Amino acid sequence: MAGTGLVGVGGWGKNHARVLSELGALAAICDTDASRAEAFSRKYGVPAYDSLDKMLSAERLRSAHVCTPTTTHAPVALKLMDAGLDVFVEKPLASSVAEGRKIADFARDRGRTVAVGFIERFNPAVSYLKKLVQEGRLGELLLCEFHRENRWGGVKDVGILLDTTVHDIDTARYIFGEEPLQVFARTGKVSGQHEDFAVLMLGFRGHKTATLTTNWVTPAKERKLTAVFTEGVVRLDFVQQEVRIDNESGSTIPTIDHGEPLMLEVRHFMKCLDEGTRPLVDAQEALKTSTVAEAASYSSAKRLPVTLQL
Ligand SMILES: NC(=O)c1ccc[n+]([C@@H]2O[C@H](COP(=O)([O-])OP(=O)(O)OC[C@H]3O[C@@H](n4cnc5c(N)ncnc54)[C@H](O)[C@@H]3O)[C@@H](O)[C@H]2O)c1
Repeated sequence: MAGTGLVGVGGWGKNHARVLSELGALAAICDTDASRAEAFSRKYGVPAYDSLDKMLSAERLRSAHVCTPTTTHAPVALKLMDAGLDVFVEKPLASSVAEGRKIADFARDRGRTVAVGFIERFNPAVSYLKKLVQEGRLGELLLCEFHRENRWGGVKDVGILLDTTVHDIDTARYIFGEEPLQVFARTGKVSGQHEDFAVLMLGFRGHKTATLTTNWVTPAKERKLTAVFTEGVVRLDFVQQEVRIDNESGSTIPTIDHGEPLMLEVRHFMKCLDEGTRPLVDAQEALKTSTVAEAASYSSAKRLPVTLQL
């Protein structure tokens, strides 16, 4: 069976290299920075390429993982799909809804499988919370309050909305199990080229609400979610993969089987390819998160709430 090509082996792509290698699936590495491609090619014993064209003409691949900067996702993913490959595209799907739609339409028209790297769906703590919502043990979910904060002084090709806030937009949609009807957002810039803080309010049916606070300013890492149900509250730590449930009978900390979300996510994509099933987050699904992010940007620019029709 032909293997997987990895496109982009930078800060995050190197984790894909490790996971794909552990799974025995890594077949080639491509990075326009030839020295990076070669360093990881030596580490994992697979060929290195400094261009997509060279990789595609030399290798027979089944799929590829796109771990390049966000603004390159669409051209890279389209070229890979055009060459007959199924693709795993890191989040967000693309740098705009229009570009994301090109990926989704191409995949639909040409029968390609696309998975998008919304990794928190594979965080065991999030899976636990999702099950709690589905079982209704704590009544109805009313409010979700997300905090994803960390000082970041580096250079990115997109702002925090597309880079970071999208994680929590996707998780809010997943946990509520429905689409938001409105978004109101405020974003701003402390330093750098793009916005580096964003606060969103997402309105779901019947006054159910998610608030998302994301910034690259807070000098300590925080990735947390408080979910308020009619009969209890769940406090979730994404990093520790921990959940605490408080209700009238007291507090409980359930045992959660920890696992590396990226490994779980990549295994899921491979299973979808083997079985011909749809990934949990395919291009159409990811496009909805891009639509919310783009509407949030518009909301902030216009200082208005935006009605969504997803
Ligand atoms: N799921 C997550 O939790 C998570 C975390 C971090 C980053 N990401 C995503 O991963 C992607 C990459 O982020 P990063 O932090 O690794 O970026 P990075 O800049 O560290 O690495 C990108 C790499 O891609 C290479 N590259 C650029 N254009 C290329 C092209 N056309 N062909 C081949 N290689 C090319 C660069 O040389 C670089 O090595 C982004 O889309 C980001 O949003 C996801």
